[in-house]
Amino acid sequence: QASLDTDLALFGAGGDLSLRKLMPALYQLDAQGLLTPQTRIIAIAREPYTTDSFIEKVSEKLKMGSDAPSDEVFERFTARITYLQMDLADAANYTTLNQQLNERPTNRLVAYYALPASLFEIVSQHLKTSGCADANTRIVAEKPIGHDLESSSEVNDALAACFDESQIYRIDHYLGKDTVQNLIALRFANSLFGNIWDERSVSHVEITVAEEVGIEGRWGYFDKAGQLRDMVQNHMLQLLCLVAMDPPADLSAQAIRDEKVRVLKALGEVDISTDVVRGQYGAGTSGGQQVPGYLQEEGANKTSSTETFVAIKARVNNWRWSGVPFYLRTGKRLPEKLSQIVVHLKPAPHYIFDAAQAHLAGNRLVIRIQPDEGIQLQVLLKDQGLEKDRRLREGPLDFSFREEHGAARIPDAYERLLWEVLQGKQSLFVRRDEIEHAWRWCDRLNEAWADADEPPKKYAAGSWGPSAAVALISRDGFSWHDME
Ligand code: BG6
Repeated sequence: QASLDTDLALFGAGGDLSLRKLMPALYQLDAQGLLTPQTRIIAIAREPYTTDSFIEKVSEKLKMGSDAPSDEVFERFTARITYLQMDLADAANYTTLNQQLNERPTNRLVAYYALPASLFEIVSQHLKTSGCADANTRIVAEKPIGHDLESSSEVNDALAACFDESQIYRIDHYLGKDTVQNLIALRFANSLFGNIWDERSVSHVEITVAEEVGIEGRWGYFDKAGQLRDMVQNHMLQLLCLVAMDPPADLSAQAIRDEKVRVLKALGEVDISTDVVRGQYGAGTSGGQQVPGYLQEEGANKTSSTETFVAIKARVNNWRWSGVPFYLRTGKRLPEKLSQIVVHLKPAPHYIFDAAQAHLAGNRLVIRIQPDEGIQLQVLLKDQGLEKDRRLREGPLDFSFREEHGAARIPDAYERLLWEVLQGKQSLFVRRDEIEHAWRWCDRLNEAWADADEPPKKYAAGSWGPSAAVALISRDGFSWHDME
């Protein structure tokens, strides 16, 4: 493990992401023995913490998590942490950082930018000129990288001016989720699925990322972004790529990312008048509580037409997927937190069972990303009982990760991603051209919406979005899997 001796400089350490996700993920890596004894964590932010008060804060968050920290690991983990209060624009601060790094040199620096992308340039330049960073350094960049193609290219140019693409790890935390990784295993380790994965057998695909929460006090950010930029440009399109991509030649970053880019390039034009639904939540109920509508959220300007829900009928225009619609749906304040992919197979070519049940024909593969991670294949079986011999019932071939692995915890996405960074593996990170192709497609939608200048359709908080989202799929003779 000698080569994994690392100094991890965590920029934006006082922020929500760092305290809620990154520090707990690092703690878990330590608990699993994956951090070398030499590995240090330098927490950097502008807040006036001391190392002790920062550790106190981290400890509070760890105790709030589902796995109580063990004293022994906690002691080892916190001994790695130093807090450095920094003004990111001030070169002198990077000299101090460099001195700290040189006190006990390790093999490399990983700089994690849990920062707004507008700061990437200045931090990168200072890291370079101060000597903190060199050709061995790895940069982890959090989303959002820009808000359209142009701004994301600027951010990417600023990173590229200081670092090689092989040093840059752009995060899309959905790629670190367990079931998302399992999708790759399912598709490319099982000939059963490999042979049916195209327009000859697949009728349509649904990808849902539903959230029960609203915007969680993030009006300032969210209102400028909207659900398309916040969720579709990154997570939803990454999921779509993993479902639609051709088998890569191997698991290398280049092979996987090349295939994903081919999918992004094949994404068809979307007609916003027929194939897209934009929604915005109004007041309603969530988790049994009355909740305000988007325009009544704290900080809201009351007239915003930003979308909190999108449903899109997308197309991947290539031989494999010709004619197969991909229905994407994502929104805030939906009835439950649910991320899943459903691959619907075409019905058998000749149907001989009860005519009243013909609608059941066709298998479904349900890949449940969260919660209750698992994979289910819906098959049709004979109903039980002599008089029902010709009747069918849907029976799942069911694989629940929870049941299979018992009490073993499923690692959080950030744990996996940080571990991959430490090992220098880039396949779960997003390459520059992926981000840019995804923006190109989303920009066209945003531009068409701006031209059409129509307000989003209202839906009540706690519902599955505007009724038009149901019409979008039912017009084609299908329905959303969880609404049947
Ligand atoms: C983030 C978005 O990228 O993903 C948030 O900015 C969203 O708005 C979150 O809530 C969802 O992530 P998860 O892992 O909770 O599904």
